[in-house]
Amino acid sequence: MKKGLFITFEGADGCGKTTQLNLLADYLRQSREVLISREPGAKGLGEKLREILLNYDEEIAPRCESFLFLADRAQHIEQIVKPAVLEGKIVLCDRHTDSTVAYQGYGRGLNLNEINYLNNLATGGLKPDLTVVFDVDIETSMARVGSEKDRMETSGTEFFNRVRNGYLEIAKQEPERVKVLNAAKSIDAVFSDLLKLVTPLL
Ligand code: TYD
Repeated sequence: MKKGLFITFEGADGCGKTTQLNLLADYLRQSREVLISREPGAKGLGEKLREILLNYDEEIAPRCESFLFLADRAQHIEQIVKPAVLEGKIVLCDRHTDSTVAYQGYGRGLNLNEINYLNNLATGGLKPDLTVVFDVDIETSMARVGSEKDRMETSGTEFFNRVRNGYLEIAKQEPERVKVLNAAKSIDAVFSDLLKLVTPLL
């Protein structure tokens, strides 16, 4: 059996990562078993947590928000990601630990060491084989998100820039695992860059 892989897709809202994830899944399915997943809210309990995180209409305290994302992650890793990777599947996950570092850490200003510690607790230490950050500027992001925004997407320009810079900082700190792509390019061009990162792992 081939070795399973865990690849995570990260970036600020409107970066186009979900489009790229679906393209990669179609491509890989020609030769491998692929599982698409996401955080928050893959299925079951996760879907209920997602509903609260994205649609709760009163204020959620930043630490509470972090714990909800982490609770979702702990369940997701244990119930979905680990078993699939052990079966030799390629798991493509839309957002994971780096979203909490970028959004709750860099974005909302929570302590980064604490977030790293809690992320590790939630995942039991399982790390992605590859994390791709799709980097875009705010103008491109806003054009892609359009007018239907969720709770996180209405947090403003400064928040967006803190999140974006947070991702670039994460990539600097973990250059082996985390790769940054210029996601302002065309869909085809970004996909071709993405394949160059993934092919060596297959
Ligand atoms: P989602 O609708 O999945 O958006 P996207 O297509 O941008 O991934 O919304 C997820 C939102 O939750 C997104 O704004 C990022 C945010 N988020 C965090 O703030 N922290 C986290 O740990 C995760 C996983 C997501």
